[in-house]
Amino acid sequence: MMNIGVIGAGRIGKVHCESIAYHVKDASVTAIADPVWTEDSKKWARDMGICACIDYHEILNNPTIDAVTICSPTQTHAKISKEAIHAGKHIFCEKPVSQDVSEIKAVMKELKNSNVKYQVGFNRRFDHNFRAVRNAAQDGRIGDVHLLKITSRDPDAPPIAYVKGSGGMFMDMTIHDFDMVRYLTGSEVEEVYANAAVLVDPEIGKAGDVDTAIVSLKLRNGALAVIDNSRRAVYGYDQRAEVFGSMGQVEIGNDSPSRSVISTVHGVTAEKPLHFFLERYMEAYTNEIKEFVDAVQNDTDVPVTIEDGLQAVLIAKAANRSIKEHRPVALTEMQN
Ligand SMILES: NC(=O)c1ccc[n+]([C@@H]2O[C@H](COP(=O)([O-])OP(=O)(O)OC[C@H]3O[C@@H](n4cnc5c(N)ncnc54)[C@H](O)[C@@H]3O)[C@@H](O)[C@H]2O)c1
Repeated sequence: MMNIGVIGAGRIGKVHCESIAYHVKDASVTAIADPVWTEDSKKWARDMGICACIDYHEILNNPTIDAVTICSPTQTHAKISKEAIHAGKHIFCEKPVSQDVSEIKAVMKELKNSNVKYQVGFNRRFDHNFRAVRNAAQDGRIGDVHLLKITSRDPDAPPIAYVKGSGGMFMDMTIHDFDMVRYLTGSEVEEVYANAAVLVDPEIGKAGDVDTAIVSLKLRNGALAVIDNSRRAVYGYDQRAEVFGSMGQVEIGNDSPSRSVISTVHGVTAEKPLHFFLERYMEAYTNEIKEFVDAVQNDTDVPVTIEDGLQAVLIAKAANRSIKEHRPVALTEMQN
């Protein structure tokens, strides 16, 4: 049995706790740390039977804990990662590892001198739909990959306080799509050209961010990709992808609560997409932790590495620079 300590008892920390408790048979959550405990969160931890603490060092100093999941705010990830490596804990770190490339590289340096496994939380790689696209694109069924189209739209914009601390839409939201470009095509991104606008909420613009974007990417294998994003799709979480190749194409649509389609004299109606990431990707969140536990227990490679985490951050930074400077930006410009 692998003992896991969860750091951060917010939205995603609770998701990982519940996944481990209910769905991962070879692991259990020993403790969860958060400096702020509301009455609701305290009750949740009590009901889960998990020891709640204030300071994550209690987890790092606990010799019975084998691994941690870092689910605290992004600004804390690199520091906690380095401390956890020194404490010899295997690490599952939520995305992004850091918004600062030099901090990610500092974590990579520490990892090189350790036996610690480090997995980054790009959950979409564990979604049944995206995996099917990846398999078809990578096993040759559609020939050489020429084009990739990703549509990724949230059901509603986050609160402005969240926007201000998020590092911007590309670093917070599109970062999953940037990872999908690499995962689905099996190629590295070489160049990024972004156009963005504030069309959903002017307050997002006042906070210095954007809420609508088209990002065009050139890949090392010669393929081209395009991502479209919106912070508000009134019909729900819109997550679609299409890969087009020399011998065909593969695409996925949205998941919905059921596949029912009602046809009447007024028209034909299907259900809206599952509302947001907690609904759409719950199975993927469980799968990513299962694969992390497998990698630790069997001493195999983790399925999403810190290098994957770094590449997605470099692409997000290139997209930000592209908007600022109104030009295509090569990834080689973003190394520091
Ligand atoms: N992979 C995904 O789909 C996904 C989804 C949501 C969030 N995230 C990432 O997870 C991280 C957390 O996001 P969230 O939405 O759960 O945020 P949140 O604000 O809901 O939760 C963060 C929690 O961390 C706690 N915290 C702050 N400092 C801490 C510290 N030093 N030690 C322990 N806990 C601390 C806060 O009190 C809060 O309870 C972010 O990096 C975010 O980008 C990933």
